[in-house]
Amino acid sequence: MCGIVAYVGHREAAPLILKGLKRLEYRGYDSAGIALLNGALNVYKKKGKVKDLEETIAHETLQSTIGIGHTRWATHGEPNDRNAHPHYSASKNLAIIHNGIIENYSSIKKNLMKKGHEFHSDTDSEVFVHFVEDIQINAGCTLEEAVRLAMKEVVGAYAIVVMDATNPTQLIAARKGSPLVIGVGEGEFFFASDATPIIEYTHEMIYLNDYEIAVVRDGELTVKNIDNALQSPYIQTVELELEAIEKGGYEHFMLKEIFEQPRSVADCLRGRVNADNGHLVLGGLREYTDKLAKAKRIVIVACGTSWHAGLVAEYLFEELARINVEVEYASEFRYRNPIIKEGDFVIAISQSGETADTLAAIELAKSKGATIIGVCNVVGSSIPRATHAGAYTHAGPEIGVASTKAFTAQVIVLTQMAIAIARKKGSLHEDTFRRLLFELERIPQKIETVLQSDGKIKEIAEKFKDARNFIYLGRGYNFPVALEGALKLKEISYIHAEGYPAAEMKHGPIALIDAEMPVVFIATKDSSYDKVVSNIQEVKARKGQVIAIVTEGDKLIPTMADYVVEIPAMHEALIPLVSVIPLQLLSYHIAVMRGCNVDQPRNLAKSVTVE
Ligand code: F6R
Repeated sequence: MCGIVAYVGHREAAPLILKGLKRLEYRGYDSAGIALLNGALNVYKKKGKVKDLEETIAHETLQSTIGIGHTRWATHGEPNDRNAHPHYSASKNLAIIHNGIIENYSSIKKNLMKKGHEFHSDTDSEVFVHFVEDIQINAGCTLEEAVRLAMKEVVGAYAIVVMDATNPTQLIAARKGSPLVIGVGEGEFFFASDATPIIEYTHEMIYLNDYEIAVVRDGELTVKNIDNALQSPYIQTVELELEAIEKGGYEHFMLKEIFEQPRSVADCLRGRVNADNGHLVLGGLREYTDKLAKAKRIVIVACGTSWHAGLVAEYLFEELARINVEVEYASEFRYRNPIIKEGDFVIAISQSGETADTLAAIELAKSKGATIIGVCNVVGSSIPRATHAGAYTHAGPEIGVASTKAFTAQVIVLTQMAIAIARKKGSLHEDTFRRLLFELERIPQKIETVLQSDGKIKEIAEKFKDARNFIYLGRGYNFPVALEGALKLKEISYIHAEGYPAAEMKHGPIALIDAEMPVVFIATKDSSYDKVVSNIQEVKARKGQVIAIVTEGDKLIPTMADYVVEIPAMHEALIPLVSVIPLQLLSYHIAVMRGCNVDQPRNLAKSVTVE
């Protein structure tokens, strides 16, 4: 959460930073700010979006070839102008942008206040910059040394960039636990929370490691570790196309990303699956498939939508590979004393690869001897770097805060893993193996077919846009889909929605059903079909409004349900990949009709780097 962008070189920094911050708004968007050096340190901050900041500073003189900028997701201190970044030091020479949380900021602040420091915000980040300056003055050291010493004292997570009014060619950045990428151009350097603000200018990037400090001075970059030892940073060429991070004619990123799914799923299968010759290989897991096939237990850790993908994986691994699976909220797992033994496998699922709780769960499981497998989307992010092995989801940048194409990509990777392990284990009949590969290759086409129902789904959305509550019900593989459908709706439309296993309805939620209650059933032709039909009847008997996602050609459910959306028939284990699509579209249209900010829903951020 929070996005940071900084630049030093020969270009005008302000437009570059503002444009970059807009690309990072998915990380937080409650306030924004920029600091430039033009004669003196000038700091501009504004509550609201980057465009509000832009409007505020439209008539300012912003010429500067060095600058730092920030878009915030509030942790300490409410979203207002005062608490927006950048923050500056007592002398007003140093300005800082910070992504993360300084856990011991309160004790540091008390000490600094005793020494006469005055603070102008409620943030932990302001404490950091005062602390650095205090060290610099008291130790009589360079700024770089002061940052290094401060890093030894602060507890928490941070990616910071510090700018010094007395040294206009210098930027100092450091990281622990929050992402920081450095773009290396011709006589210019870019710093950002991810590659998207930089890619337009250079593909050469360095992913800073934890406890590293990068200093750019007079056009030269040096990277040292916290013990002051020089590092040789690895410059990698990041293959990311500009069009992948733009809306491409769609009204919202979320809609673009929903419609991208035939392609993102195909990308995720490419080179990994070939039904004609029975090929199924996940390159990153090649050395681990044998060991996974022998695993007694797999624990899956994730948050939010990724946790839902983990639930789908539970059904897949248990049914196909006959391995005992437990799916844990990373945030709960990390604070229990979970029983993990050597030989256990932990699969960590994360779109961003930066989720703080998931990272902490990985470290805990690692310390107990587990082997960690990552399923992540953002290449080079922290989680893939913390795992023993893994498979990328290759969904491309997901910018809409509500996760859509990342979910289907996660499920497709997990499906491939389950099938590969099952085959290795011998728990999958060759015919079923071949059939699953054949059907996997046809999933993009099936998603394409469902996307053609967009107009019909929009009409359904029109009927229910003013509903105050929704219930989503599904069984078996479709139970996690019900949870995901409910999450999608609540996060972008602010309508209260609950997902349940369909049979659980009669143990409580049925009390909510009346003529006002829309109930979305994922009622495809699978092993629970008959049971779900009975559940639909129970809802209709209480006058609930039924929207059913059914298998093409179903003759029965359309006679009971109020609205029906068809999806093509497929192997039961693959249904979530397709049944989730109409639910994504339904949420999207309802949210748009309610005038909600679909891509940046209130209070949310895409990359949750705080616990
Ligand atoms: C929901 C959503 C969140 C994320 C969750 C985990 O649409 O996007 O629930 O799924 O914050 O994030 P990652 O997958 O980045 O670890």
